[in-house]
Amino acid sequence: MYKIVTKRQLNEQVVLMEVEAPFVAKKAQAGQFIIFRVDEKGERIPLTIADYDREKGTVTIIFQTVGESTMKLAMLNEGDSILDFVGPLGVATHFEDGIKKVAVVGGGVGCAIAYPQAKALFNKGVEVDLIAGFRSKDIVILEDEMKKVSTNLYITTDDGTYGTKGFVTNVLKELIEKGNKYDAVVAIGPVPMMKFVCDVTKPYGIKTIVSLNPIMVDGTGMCGGCRVSVGGKVKYACVDGPDFDGFEVDFDELMRRNASYKEQEREHVCRLTGGVR
Ligand SMILES: Cc1cc2nc3c(=O)[nH]c(=O)nc-3n(C[C@H](O)[C@H](O)[C@H](O)COP(=O)(O)OP(=O)(O)OC[C@H]3O[C@@H](n4cnc5c(N)ncnc54)[C@H](O)[C@@H]3O)c2cc1C
Ligand code: FES
Repeated sequence: MYKIVTKRQLNEQVVLMEVEAPFVAKKAQAGQFIIFRVDEKGERIPLTIADYDREKGTVTIIFQTVGESTMKLAMLNEGDSILDFVGPLGVATHFEDGIKKVAVVGGGVGCAIAYPQAKALFNKGVEVDLIAGFRSKDIVILEDEMKKVSTNLYITTDDGTYGTKGFVTNVLKELIEKGNKYDAVVAIGPVPMMKFVCDVTKPYGIKTIVSLNPIMVDGTGMCGGCRVSVGGKVKYACVDGPDFDGFEVDFDELMRRNASYKEQEREHVCRLTGGVR
């Protein structure tokens, strides 16, 4: 069992939990994830390692409550325990030596995944422009944390209630056009956002890394659930990723596959909340 030592509500739907998991904390690196199961009847759900403390033996996860499993997890409190917490899984983000300047782009809860990537780069002495996008001011998360791990932090909101009005891609394009020379761009968030970031960076030939979020089951490359097409080849995001070269990813296929179980997911939530479909 894995004890929750800290629980913090970051906005109405996003929760941060620090979980006692010393073996995961010992080996965790930016870009990796865990798979949890709340209880013996629970689904296996992947969440990115947002942070870790090797000395305390804790791992931080930040998640949005979107369906049955994340809702069940959000119902737990400090002192409660999670049944399974397996990791670290996936390949850690790798940057070539000599990289000097990177733009990290996060969308919504994707900022929780962008944060450890920005932190790892910033701590290596890389100049990091962090562009974080949210629908509106009330759902902005991790602003202070992101400030600490970036050279410049740009916040955007779709409705203009905070930061720059508009999408992360507008700010990214503007920064590139102003002459910022990025060795790489890292984009993490909703699939359409990652696709549009690639559309912005491709004409400039800036290497763009995306972190994919297909449906995962076992997390060991055995079930095929997280199959994605990258450069015309089949890859398994849980063992070959989740980071991939954005110019090679078939985003449209990923969106189609991620929507496969929408009907069943709706039923689950209705059972949990007592709602009517
Ligand atoms: C490598 C990876 C890292 C992730 N990191 C984070 C994170 O740090 N924070 C965060 O909020 N979310 C993260 N996600 C997404 C998270 O796993 C889903 O939101 C979660 O599985 C939803 O489960 P649910 O039962 O609450 O919702 P459901 O109602 O079951 O599903 C809602 C949506 O979540 C996705 N989903 C459902 N089941 C799975 C599954 N087994 N594997 C992957 N996606 C699924 C689907 O797109 C689905 O439409 C990550 C996904 C992957 C693959
Ligand atoms: S989750 Fe089963 S192969 Fe990746």
